Amino acid sequence: MKNEKKILDIIILAAGKGTRMYSEKAKVLHEIAGKALLQYVIDCSKNLKAETINIVYGHGGQQVKETINDESLNWCEQREQLGTGHAVMQATQFINDQANVLILYGDVPLLTADTLEKLLDEKKNSSIALLTAELKNPAGYGRIVRNKIGNIEKITEEKDATDEIKEIKEINSGVMVVDGDKLKLWLDKINNKNSQGEYYLTDLIELAVNEGESVSSHIVIDNNEIEGINNKIQLAELERVYQNRQAKKLMEKGVTLLDPNRFDLRGQVEIGKDVSIDINVILEGKCSIGNNVTIGANSIIKDSIIGDGVAILENCVIEKSKIKSGCNIGPFARLRPETQLDENAKVGNFVEIKKSHIAKGSKVNHLSYIGDTEMGENVNVGAGTITCNYDGAYKHLTKIGDNAFIGSNTALVAPIEIGSGATIGAGSTLGKDADAGKLTFSRAKQVTISSWIRPIKNK
Ligand code: UD1
Ligand code: CA
Repeated sequence: MKNEKKILDIIILAAGKGTRMYSEKAKVLHEIAGKALLQYVIDCSKNLKAETINIVYGHGGQQVKETINDESLNWCEQREQLGTGHAVMQATQFINDQANVLILYGDVPLLTADTLEKLLDEKKNSSIALLTAELKNPAGYGRIVRNKIGNIEKITEEKDATDEIKEIKEINSGVMVVDGDKLKLWLDKINNKNSQGEYYLTDLIELAVNEGESVSSHIVIDNNEIEGINNKIQLAELERVYQNRQAKKLMEKGVTLLDPNRFDLRGQVEIGKDVSIDINVILEGKCSIGNNVTIGANSIIKDSIIGDGVAILENCVIEKSKIKSGCNIGPFARLRPETQLDENAKVGNFVEIKKSHIAKGSKVNHLSYIGDTEMGENVNVGAGTITCNYDGAYKHLTKIGDNAFIGSNTALVAPIEIGSGATIGAGSTLGKDADAGKLTFSRAKQVTISSWIRPIKNK
């Protein structure tokens, strides 16, 4: 009953140096799926509807604050890293006596709100609750010491543990929930008389037990949730764990992933029915993908909307683009920001499109650059066509009317307008508008020199 109506204050410890990352970047700013480790913990805290979120920072604090850039957080500086207990002390000024105080870690990114709800649930009838785990190899962790009837008595750090205690497989994740008033009371009583000369947060447990309090606990089911990151190996491992979680969620909703181990989602995606994604596809930012879409191997799609029945072939890069239904893209196509392809348009091999609108049924099939262009319907753009949109200082617009036919290897020097139904002869360089319905070309006259003899090398 104790927790009902209790508000929640969260303290996130993030003052650690991260020496083993060998990086100029603060440890908690290293990323999983393109998002800072600390941001995962903040997002999870927000899911729990915390009243206050307090971040204890130390090394690289300014960098962390600027990157996270969130006005709703309280930042508490820990000038010297004197232990986890000392770290929590830096935040107690913001803690409500009546609150449940949840202590989390900025370098433990994959903990779920679901697990924390269960921990909060366990705490209902006590003043303190611990999130624990059972590990085959518990080396390095603080051990949960229970008495004969299974009640928690204390936590002993590995460095202070006897061989007998080192045998214990149940470990302290570090995550705990404590009553606000009790937290302050007990933190006042801890000292640094241990093998590391640190103020241990874990000493709270023995203090609580000595005051006749019972310590409740929840054993985490998925040990990855409590895994911390100290080096690039652990970072890579948790990246894959996280990606597998996401891949599984998509497959559960019917998405075909040819190999879930070679799929990366760095952001959010909404995906329709009968979508098939080949290997090494990366989806970034915010993407939406319709029904019956196929995405070929090695394609990268960022912040884009893909309509129904679109086929994206291998090795395409698509960014901030809108692709309507039935389009065919690639292989090896690059769609840069502000590209829109209307229904059934086709963009083929080695084509780059930037800030352009390609209307229904138009085709740019081979080796072209189309930039700052407004293209009508059913236009055919021949291989090697270039819109010369940049004069060295300004960008200029190209307009191409419906049903125009642009011959291969044409340079359209913008600003320029090609009328609807116009035909442009191959190899033209056009600096002036081309009339609708007419043939226009600019091409040097072809000549044949009958008397010409190819030079021969003297022996
Ligand atoms: C701590 C726990 C241990 C637990 C383990 C889980 C203590 C005394 N021990 O040990 O029981 O099994 O975590 O990983 O709590 N931090 C600060 N300021 C400090 C010290 C630490 O912000 O002064 C932060 C670190 O950035 C890190 C976290 O607290 O995110 C844990 O600190 P760390 O030194 O790694 O604790 P452990 O010795 O691993
Ligand atoms: Ca640690």
